[in-house]
Amino acid sequence: MMRACRREPVERTPVWLMRQAGRYLPEYRRVRAEVEFMELVKNPRLASEVMLATVHRLGVDAAIIFSDLLPILEPMGMDLEFAAGEGPVIHNPLRGPADVERLRELDDLDPLGFVMECVQATRAGLDDSIPVIGFAGAPFTLAGYCIEGGTSRAWLHTKSLMYCHEAAWHDLMGKIARSVSRYLVAQLDAGAQLVQLFDSWVGCLSPDDYRRYVLPHSRLAMAEAAKRAPVIHFATGNPALLPLLAEAGGSVIGIDWRINLSDAWRLVGHDRAVQGNLDPAVLLTDPDTVRRHTLEVLAQAGGRPGHIFNLGHGILPQTPVENVLALIAAVKGA
Ligand code: CP3
Repeated sequence: MMRACRREPVERTPVWLMRQAGRYLPEYRRVRAEVEFMELVKNPRLASEVMLATVHRLGVDAAIIFSDLLPILEPMGMDLEFAAGEGPVIHNPLRGPADVERLRELDDLDPLGFVMECVQATRAGLDDSIPVIGFAGAPFTLAGYCIEGGTSRAWLHTKSLMYCHEAAWHDLMGKIARSVSRYLVAQLDAGAQLVQLFDSWVGCLSPDDYRRYVLPHSRLAMAEAAKRAPVIHFATGNPALLPLLAEAGGSVIGIDWRINLSDAWRLVGHDRAVQGNLDPAVLLTDPDTVRRHTLEVLAQAGGRPGHIFNLGHGILPQTPVENVLALIAAVKGA
């Protein structure tokens, strides 16, 4: 995995999956029957056990820590809840330029000590050959949650603040970017070998808007961590953003399934590694179909050094485990 991040030759393509520990796994559902999601995230022993069990069950080549994008927002002043069946809710969203002042920049990472302890416990539980991936949400995706108060289809409140109150927007994005930067570095200090920045919803923007309203902030969020370790920069939804994502930073660019991997790599530039990009919906089919699509993605990577196999976005909760195992076997056997 680490050699692939540096585009060095590898004996086979490394593989891990976004959301590899989650509701599709019966073992995870058993843990969640006993503890609420945020309780699990704030319990480093249990959270690390969930990921360690998953890594051993699946035989993947990397362990992302078990956490979420949104806990960073609590010490910044957001009232966060994971309501059953609804996903995340923020009860005090930032709706106007005056609200932006309410968001506190994170200087002191002590309130997120449970995340660093989770990194340490996950690192301690694994063979040296398996890297631990720390992660954070990218400034746009986190700003979107702060403004909308939850997941959104069109991110209209977010765009309205961005277009109508540009100074407040940059103020908000700057506070988040500096907080994320410290958070990623703290995860490296705690023992993570690399970090991933998730810009899960930025694909709703045009390239021009990305450049003006997002790129400088994402660049700042990654810059310190990138001096010390590989950074995976991941976004979904808009392949036209790929050259700009590469410009913002990341030694590895995460690719979703809406573009052929070979075309994506050309857009990103062959001086970067890429991660992706099987459509998670393929995992809802059957092992033979999964194998066929997996081999197609590998063929698109063309054996070029610097490909990390992953999905184009997180595993869907209704995914059969046997299909996930078929994917991993196909990558390892190719
Ligand atoms: O890979 C892993 O399994 C590690 C853990 C991980 C979770 N969330 C656990 C989780 C990671 C890396 C994330 C990142 C995350 N969180 C993202 C970025 C990835 C992406 O999909 O784009 C986003 C957008 C979130 C925000 C979030 N967290 C949403 C929208 C939801 C609800 C919808 C859903 O997919 O469940 C969550 C909850 C969440 N995060 C769960 C898990 C295992 C499910 C909680 C439960 O047990 O009910």
